[in-house]
Amino acid sequence: MALQSRWYSEPIRLLMLPRTSFLRNPKGFPVLSKAHQQYLTRFLRLRFPPWLLLSDVGIIAGANPSVASDPSPAPTPAEAATKVAENVEDPLQHLKYIRHLQQTQPSRPPMERFGQGYQDYLQSPLQPLTDNLESITYEVFEKDPVKYEWYERAIALALKDLRDEHLGEGREILVAVVGAGRGPLVTRALLASRSTGFKIRCYAVEKNPNAHVLLQRRNATDKLCNDQVTVVKSDMRSWPGPTLPNGEVSKVDILVSELLGSFADNELSPECLDGVQHVLHPDHGINIPQSYSAHLTPISTPKLYSDLLGRASPTDINMTTTDKWELPYVVMLHQIDYLAHDASAEPQPSIGETWSFAHPISPRILAQARQRAGGTTDAGGWVGGDGSNEHNARTSKLTFTCPNRGVCHGLAGYFETVLYRNTQGTAVELSTNPVTMEAKSKDMISWFPIFFPLKTPITIPDNAEMEVTMWRQTDDRKVWYEWVVEVFEATAAAESKKRRKLGMSELHSSRKNGCLM
Ligand SMILES: C[S@@+](CC[C@H](N)C(=O)[O-])C[C@H]1O[C@@H](n2cnc3c(N)ncnc32)[C@H](O)[C@@H]1O
Repeated sequence: MALQSRWYSEPIRLLMLPRTSFLRNPKGFPVLSKAHQQYLTRFLRLRFPPWLLLSDVGIIAGANPSVASDPSPAPTPAEAATKVAENVEDPLQHLKYIRHLQQTQPSRPPMERFGQGYQDYLQSPLQPLTDNLESITYEVFEKDPVKYEWYERAIALALKDLRDEHLGEGREILVAVVGAGRGPLVTRALLASRSTGFKIRCYAVEKNPNAHVLLQRRNATDKLCNDQVTVVKSDMRSWPGPTLPNGEVSKVDILVSELLGSFADNELSPECLDGVQHVLHPDHGINIPQSYSAHLTPISTPKLYSDLLGRASPTDINMTTTDKWELPYVVMLHQIDYLAHDASAEPQPSIGETWSFAHPISPRILAQARQRAGGTTDAGGWVGGDGSNEHNARTSKLTFTCPNRGVCHGLAGYFETVLYRNTQGTAVELSTNPVTMEAKSKDMISWFPIFFPLKTPITIPDNAEMEVTMWRQTDDRKVWYEWVVEVFEATAAAESKKRRKLGMSELHSSRKNGCLM
């Protein structure tokens, strides 16, 4: 299986199926084993599936007269017996069977249907904080059959907890959707209010002027909104908070956001949510999502490597060149092979958690960050401004076991998030991590994985260990990632805690192309 899986990631153009690959079913027809059928299905789902070549499965009468008239050496008695059996057979049975398999392939899962044409296609990650998204981009998000449903469930659970534990009857619950886009989460908050029977007052904050217009229209025309939503055009970090009809500035009870990227924090959700925390009720305020974590695993992907190899490095408007190897890419990973596996869970890949963020954060951290941004003078006379976002820097060192040899071309990244865990422990979660996505948010299509490439691929021997070190770096202006991969021989020496280092990648850094805060 490991060998097949490795071949699957290679740029295969032709799959040859000799007669010996076929079994006979009880009726005597040639068929492929279940394992071969599944393997073929994987290939047939590729954007460019390989050609299938049947070999040694009998001569098609009249197809090649020179072969037919070729005098063959006399057969042995055993060969003569099989030839007799073959002669009575339909010479096209193998071909017909393969055609039948092609036509009866299982339907593709929703993510593959949705992402058709995007398989292994490298894209630059969105930066919704610095760039204003287009309406069509929101429209694509809004097609997700799971994400919005799960948000509605999470908001309903949070409303119930607030009502039961803190607010009691009679007071409206203030819900703000920050980064509201065209308003799908506003609709979900209103639906959660309707299904629970708890009255809410809803605010929608969005800094993108195009989306703001659409939000206003939705508020005016949508029956559920009924012109009752307060639409605010502002960067959430400079929004003072809801102004009540009596003119008083109040605090929000539930702050709903969806600012997550393919690697959780790469669209600067932590920085935005820190910046808007001042509007959240300090005692009982709830963030949805409450927490999120980034996950990664080393992969082999000759396809993406050769794609990058053939590309020029991007140049921005200031004619500054960014090294194409020093950037993460969003990509619907397909023709890849996972290198790391836990013996107990094979064939599942082992995917490690790099770091996590939880909201709201301690007010003490925010107070300290504010001080640092002001450029505090310390005893040594330091008057720097850098450091206000230092609490959002992270470091992670993960060790992976790689049982089978291969070549590492980079790291695949995913995320998980707890939208809300209620007081009874019921959690509503989203995940793109291939190990947990089925259980947490099956069929969610909003996010493709992220890929951190390696400039020079690293060879991994059998029974190796890989160590992946990753940093989320930040100054007062931007956030970027750094990554490095090391390979160790995991032999008997490993048991004595001594490992032999076999190789190491360069240190990669996306600093030049960091996400602006
Ligand atoms: C990933 S989109 C989600 C949109 C919508 N909530 C949805 O789920 O379809 C993130 C939205 O947040 C907005 N956004 C990002 N940072 C923001 C900020 N600091 N203040 C206000 N809006 C922000 C973006 O313009 C974008 O509309």
